Amino acid sequence: MHNDLEKVLVTREKIEAKTIELAAQISKDYKGKNLLLVGVLKGGFVFLSDLMRKIDNQCEVDFIMVSSYGNSTKTSGVVKIIKDIDTDISGKNILLVEDLIDTGLTLKHLLELLKTRNPKSIEICAILDKPSRRLVNLEVAYSGIEIPDEYVVGYGLDYQNKYRHLPDVCTLKPEIYKKRL
Ligand code: IMP
Ligand code: MG
Repeated sequence: MHNDLEKVLVTREKIEAKTIELAAQISKDYKGKNLLLVGVLKGGFVFLSDLMRKIDNQCEVDFIMVSSYGNSTKTSGVVKIIKDIDTDISGKNILLVEDLIDTGLTLKHLLELLKTRNPKSIEICAILDKPSRRLVNLEVAYSGIEIPDEYVVGYGLDYQNKYRHLPDVCTLKPEIYKKRL
């Protein structure tokens, strides 16, 4: 285990099993329909790449990048779009693919923004969820693994842009935060 890590919170095996389950449900629900997976950057790309390879149907992929909250939670709900998708989504079935839902503000904002572009449908799929942190009501069609209110890294998730490459979802030793603040 990496020296900066405190513990593994969600193993790669558990992530894979849940991804298979979610992909099976998505394959069933979107059978015979168009599907555009929209990955939320940066963190969402790891999960998206695993998820799409387990989906049976045809699907297209695009990405959107939003400003991150850093280590604090912004409650304004205003999320800055840093990179927009370049697909015309009118008449398409959209699935927003996220690493983790925390307050829910990012996805709420993205949903509202993308809905103005007249997609046929729009749903959310996230591999991790911290329901105890939710500040807004969010309907999550494809909900992954619930985790407690702890800051996690790995499987796309970062702390100061590091640790995204870790295959498991882990917590960091407390001194790592102190050192870099
Ligand atoms: P929300 O808008 O509060 O739901 O925040 C969503 C985004 O914040 C996630 O997609 C992550 O990128 C980031 N985030 C929230 N909690 C954590 C965490 O514990 N570790 C790393 N990133 C996090
Ligand atoms: Mg994210």
